[in-house]
Amino acid sequence: MKGEIIIEINGLTKRYGEVTALDSVSFSVEEGEIFGLLGPNGAGKTTLMEILCGLRRFDEGRVTVRGFDLMKDAYKIRSLIGFCTQETLLYDLLSVRENFAFSASLYSLDHKKFKERVEFSTKVLGVEEFLNRRVQQLSGGMKRRANLAAAIIHDPPIVILDEPTVGFDPAIKREFWDLIKNLKGTDKTVLLSTHDMYEADEVCDRVAIMEKGKIAALDKPRVLKETIGGVASIRVRVKANQTKQALAVLKEYNGTQREDDEIQIVAKDPWKTMTEVSNKLASKGILTEKIEIVEPTLEDVFIKLSGRKLSGDSQ
Ligand SMILES: Nc1ncnc2c1ncn2[C@@H]1O[C@H](COP(=O)(O)OP(=O)(O)OP(=O)(O)O)[C@@H](O)[C@H]1O
Ligand SMILES: [Mg+2]
Repeated sequence: MKGEIIIEINGLTKRYGEVTALDSVSFSVEEGEIFGLLGPNGAGKTTLMEILCGLRRFDEGRVTVRGFDLMKDAYKIRSLIGFCTQETLLYDLLSVRENFAFSASLYSLDHKKFKERVEFSTKVLGVEEFLNRRVQQLSGGMKRRANLAAAIIHDPPIVILDEPTVGFDPAIKREFWDLIKNLKGTDKTVLLSTHDMYEADEVCDRVAIMEKGKIAALDKPRVLKETIGGVASIRVRVKANQTKQALAVLKEYNGTQREDDEIQIVAKDPWKTMTEVSNKLASKGILTEKIEIVEPTLEDVFIKLSGRKLSGDSQ
């Protein structure tokens, strides 16, 4: 049922020799939500997902999925999960439909159910138009869609996506985000990993920020930004030769000059202050080229927690 806990992880620890990839990780995922693992390279995202899917052993802790214990009932859990890996696992020389048939055979789907699933998932994921094309003739974005559809051909209640949009251009990324939201609309629970803070913010109901095998924070993106990310600030750009003068005019607001020469002002009520600042500059004859309010992002949250940036690939 929606809102009930479907995945529960307690004190999960995984070591690869000297490396502790997961260090006593605990969290739970609710049925029907899109849950994100946001973290830089090496944070432990893939390790956690592979453990959940029964593809890796772990050293300590307890994992249950729909009440089944991963140590005892890995086989039952596997049928509850559709795992979409970062690399596409499709046969290039087969058509998309043939690939689906192959995936379905791994789960012993009967013909009727297979037909239903092809109809359903191709509609939800927009694969219909290239169902009969060979995989080698598809674009990167189409392949990823087909890969996702193949991963969930057995109609699992949980869909796990490992960095689903890495390397996509912004338009295809948006399209894929819509597909993921569509899955939620069909009552799936989605667990996805990403190092794209925009993706986590845009798509996920809740986000766990992972760093070096630990969960540094976990909440709704809005709450993380409000409680950890800091306050909104005003950014003003004036003509380069007027920046010093503008800083003097705006002294009472404690404006600071940023590396990009914009002036940053932190205020309790940024909307009111923005109007005041704009009027003040105009009254002194200083031309404002740009003035805006910048809200904190999940990147700010990550920097506050870890002291470093997420990764270069965040757009
Ligand atoms: N098979 C392995 N053998 C040894 N160490 C491993 C193995 N797989 C992962 N690791 C290590 O475990 C840690 C976590 O890796 P993991 O692949 O889970 O991170 P990730 O968050 O998925 O990173 P990325 O964003 O790069 O995919 C890293 O330090 C990694 O080097
Ligand atoms: Mg990974």
